[in-house]
Amino acid sequence: MARALAGGMTRKDPAQALIFSDPNRDQLDAAGRLGEAQVTTDNDEAIAAADVVVLAVKPQRMREVCKALAPAVLKHQPLIISIAAGISTRSLVQWLGGHERLVRAMPNTPALVSEGATGLYATPAVSAEDRDHARAPFDAVGYTMWVEEEDLLHAVTALSGSGPAYFFFLMEIMEAHGVEQGLSAEQSHSLALATARGAAAMASADEKPLSQLRTDVTSPGGTTEAALRAMVEGQLDRSIRDGMDAAARRSGELAEEYGRRRS
Ligand SMILES: NC(=O)c1ccc[n+]([C@@H]2O[C@H](COP(=O)([O-])OP(=O)(O)OC[C@H]3O[C@@H](n4cnc5c(N)ncnc54)[C@H](OP(=O)(O)O)[C@@H]3O)[C@@H](O)[C@H]2O)c1
Repeated sequence: MARALAGGMTRKDPAQALIFSDPNRDQLDAAGRLGEAQVTTDNDEAIAAADVVVLAVKPQRMREVCKALAPAVLKHQPLIISIAAGISTRSLVQWLGGHERLVRAMPNTPALVSEGATGLYATPAVSAEDRDHARAPFDAVGYTMWVEEEDLLHAVTALSGSGPAYFFFLMEIMEAHGVEQGLSAEQSHSLALATARGAAAMASADEKPLSQLRTDVTSPGGTTEAALRAMVEGQLDRSIRDGMDAAARRSGELAEEYGRRRS
């Protein structure tokens, strides 16, 4: 994810001064190929030179990483952005020795192809100028929006964070059905993808509500109406809502689990 963000920033402004820090040499070699990016295996060295620091380690490693970084963060006072799912700013502040200039971001995997969707939350210690700096890496790889309450990041996680998998699942089912009906795997795959792309493009280009777009393509007595009726009878809408509820609940549980390991 860090490479996707840096790639987007470099494409937008090749003169960006980026420093990558990672104990893993292979990751650094790949990062070093991004324009003029500097690389280091020493997090302290990266922080000493940075105005903005993006923490992009796995959530389970965040505590140890922050605790090790705390002295350098307190000394240099950079703006910190965490992209770790489920780690609250409360935990981050504690692990970073009280540093409060923090933003949490919840990006999603389409950021890898510059079509991401990111929800951001800033602590009250973050200025308007900091907010602009914080959203820049995510703007470079897709759509961004701020939430004013941290708990809303659970809703963001359930919608856009986990959302790509819901669409993959839907496309998978449509593709398999096409094959069952006699289309080749390739034909079915291409039709599923083109349809998803087309629907998203239409919804983006048109200001009509989604429900109106759906009604517009549903002729009375036609095939789409038959399909949608069967899907509603099968409680498709209910299943999707239940799934998103489960994702939001799990996001809350993970935040609690990581938060309990706060000391
Ligand atoms: N992938 C997504 O779509 C997505 C979406 C939203 C949020 N996120 C969040 O993004 C974060 C990163 O996810 P990812 O999928 O990009 O994980 P990843 O591929 O494992 O990247 C994490 C990188 O951090 C390195 N690292 C480990 N310890 C470090 C340390 N002490 N100092 C500096 N670097 C260190 C890892 O090295 P090693 O490989 O050697 O451990 C690895 O290269 C996670 O917190 C995740 O919750 C990801």
